[in-house]
Amino acid sequence: MSFNNKVVFITGAASGIGRACAEAFAEQGARLYLADINEQGLSQTVADYAQRQQVVLDVIDSAACQAAIDDCVEQYGQLDVLCNIAGIVMATNFHDTTDEQWQRVMNINLNSVFYLSRAAIPHLKNSGGNIVNMASSAGLLGQAYTSAYCSAKAAVVNLSRSLALEYAAAGIRVNAICPGGVKTNLSDNFSVPEDADFKLFERVMPLLPMPGPGPIAEAVLYLASDKAAYITGTTLSLDGGQTAG
Ligand code: NAI
Repeated sequence: MSFNNKVVFITGAASGIGRACAEAFAEQGARLYLADINEQGLSQTVADYAQRQQVVLDVIDSAACQAAIDDCVEQYGQLDVLCNIAGIVMATNFHDTTDEQWQRVMNINLNSVFYLSRAAIPHLKNSGGNIVNMASSAGLLGQAYTSAYCSAKAAVVNLSRSLALEYAAAGIRVNAICPGGVKTNLSDNFSVPEDADFKLFERVMPLLPMPGPGPIAEAVLYLASDKAAYITGTTLSLDGGQTAG
């Protein structure tokens, strides 16, 4: 899975799965363009995997997303892989969810994928490149107390399929990954409403122990690589059997 001379744009690179992707792609010789809203974490990732380009980017800002893709192509002359990894989760009772909470979850998890993919597609046409979107098992199953997140991730799954269809003839592949629980800041800081019914979580428990971000990054690398040249429009589940039945 060599990525020598390939240019890979990764959002969410300051932490967790995005950071693990930066490490994994760097090990395979990729030239990285790393984006995150967390400047300190981003600088740490860049320092650890040196000689990379970086941008402090709020992925809910459409114009900034366009500018970041333009800058990546200006710096490197091409774009081969877009990894839309940045995301947040928010747990609320649905009836208490504010407009701001709903929109923030939609903006960061879903709208960002639209902004960045739209900006990237002309360049991916030139390179015969691909997009890997980070969805979730929450995009395949309903889950209590995270209705906005589940809605956004389900939309990411179907956006990925739709783009796979629309751009196959242009030589662009688009796939989504659906992890279950992964040990990162996101899962460490996850808390449910005080009156949550914990029996509802028993329905979505995985069968295997929770992994760290490394195995998820390996799957991102695989889908982005030439070894997955015949794979487009798929959703790859890494959820310890959570969605098996
Ligand atoms: P994380 O919290 O460790 O990393 C998320 C990164 O996204 C952070 O560096 C954060 O600064 C960045 N980010 C958040 N809002 C942003 C914004 N407005 N603009 C730019 N960057 C922003 O979380 P983790 O677990 O690595 O999450 C990565 C992706 O994986 C997310 O899309 C998440 O929904 C998804 N996922 C995570 C699972 C888990 O259990 N950790 C399970 C399934 C999916």
